[in-house]
Amino acid sequence: MTAQAPTLAVRVARKRVEARDICSLELVSADGSALPAFSAGAHIDVHLPGGLTRPYSLCNAPTDTGRYVISVLRDANSRGGSVAVHEAVTDGSLLQISPPKNHFPLADQAPHHLLLAGGIGITPLLAMAETLTTRGEPFELHHCTRARERTAFMERIAAAPYAARVSHHFDDGAPGQQLDIAATLQAAAPGTHLYVCGPQGFMDAVLGTARQQGWPEARLHFEFFSAAPVDTSSDGSFELEIASSGQVITVKPEQTALQALQAAGLDIPMSCEQGVCGTCLTGVKSGTPEHRDQYLTPEERAANDQFLPCCSRAKSPRLVLDL
Ligand code: FES
Repeated sequence: MTAQAPTLAVRVARKRVEARDICSLELVSADGSALPAFSAGAHIDVHLPGGLTRPYSLCNAPTDTGRYVISVLRDANSRGGSVAVHEAVTDGSLLQISPPKNHFPLADQAPHHLLLAGGIGITPLLAMAETLTTRGEPFELHHCTRARERTAFMERIAAAPYAARVSHHFDDGAPGQQLDIAATLQAAAPGTHLYVCGPQGFMDAVLGTARQQGWPEARLHFEFFSAAPVDTSSDGSFELEIASSGQVITVKPEQTALQALQAAGLDIPMSCEQGVCGTCLTGVKSGTPEHRDQYLTPEERAANDQFLPCCSRAKSPRLVLDL
């Protein structure tokens, strides 16, 4: 069985409104001890009032030790996480969080970095902009949002040393200022690494265009923060075999594989429960997963040697798991 991930106790030192429907939380250690260091692109899992756990990217500079800053959009389609942050968390709230994890790191030794953010997807890219500025590496950041009043961090960016590298694009603005994804990707210097974070449609548009233009997967870096809708109406049952014990667990049609594993007493780390954070990644020794996540690359999916049990299922009657 997997050991329960350790948590850190933090206090909300400051909650502030960043833009319409967006608030940020500044988290400091509850007992004054040092917080673990993090790198740009990292996130923490936040255990929220009401029992939900949700991943949020750290958006302060990694050199800014002593605090973690996250920013959260109140999502009309929220399954409860963003509403809990907006309504149940206040200045002084005590929370448990995971140590930082980074599934979205900056590439080393890239000649140029192109950062494309959709909406609240700006958060990990802000930490990247800070780090690239510190490293002295060339980059440009484009932030696409619905409207100026819904755009977080405009003041922070305007005051930053990298302000001239950032372009804002508003959906309700003049046509000429909107991001031309194809032209921007086409104009990127040879060897540029692309980093994308935002809602599904934005991610699909950027990554689809990049792949059409022949960008190699090794230069595409992305992090989804919500899952694409999936039709679950024809889901059937399948079996999971635990390689270390031989235990066989049936996943019922209305269950996720993760729920079935947990019901059988296996403690699998999890956070987003929708296939975007990678926390529940589990090795597959045999059988064929039906991948429904937004986390693995096309090559990783094709290898079929790992899957995300919070959302993915099986094409074969049984998966043997490396547990
Ligand atoms: S818990 Fe986030 S990918 Fe499974």
